Amino acid sequence: MKMKSITPNKFVNKKIFYLTGFMGSGKSTIGPILANTLGWEFYDLDKVIEDKSGKLVKEIFEIYGEDYFRNLETESLLELSVKENVIIALGGGTIASDGNIAILKKTGIIVYLKMSPESAMKRLKFKRNRPVLFSDLKENFTNEDLLNRITELYEKRRKYYDQSDIIIDTDDIPIGRTIDNLARIVQQETKRQYEKD
Ligand code: S3P
Repeated sequence: MKMKSITPNKFVNKKIFYLTGFMGSGKSTIGPILANTLGWEFYDLDKVIEDKSGKLVKEIFEIYGEDYFRNLETESLLELSVKENVIIALGGGTIASDGNIAILKKTGIIVYLKMSPESAMKRLKFKRNRPVLFSDLKENFTNEDLLNRITELYEKRRKYYDQSDIIIDTDDIPIGRTIDNLARIVQQETKRQYEKD
């Protein structure tokens, strides 16, 4: 786990932890357990978008296209960004826009659940509900095709993920340990804030 070289005041007045990371990195699994452990509320940005639109993310992509989804995503992010003491699981692509990352940095602490493209491939190969990944692949794609597609997308997004405040390696690490690590960090940081308030 890496913490950026941050000034002690970096986290002051930030009461949101944003979980970012590539599709399949465990944001939506880890988020609610972490929130429960802390007694905080949990929001899943994709779920908020689905509730708002009455459609699945996959359907939004199919019917209206990616740009429409990205607009809904920013709109929903802005709505959630005023909350306090919440954990928010972002979509894998939410952070990858200059506008969105500015909102995240201003309003919260960004936690990056990092994993290798190979691990992403293993976790995603039997899923079909990730339109950004699968819509460009032929029907009988191989593991190598999928890995290439993941690597390509990863390279485009790396510069955004790398701006996160806290980077947690999730490769070969049991999910329980990642949650324990995160809970400790969140508690430390919030304690520090309350002492300052
Ligand atoms: C996306 C990731 C998805 C979802 C949408 C687009 C992406 O979320 O927001 O399909 O661009 O990486 P998960 O990361 O939760 O799968």
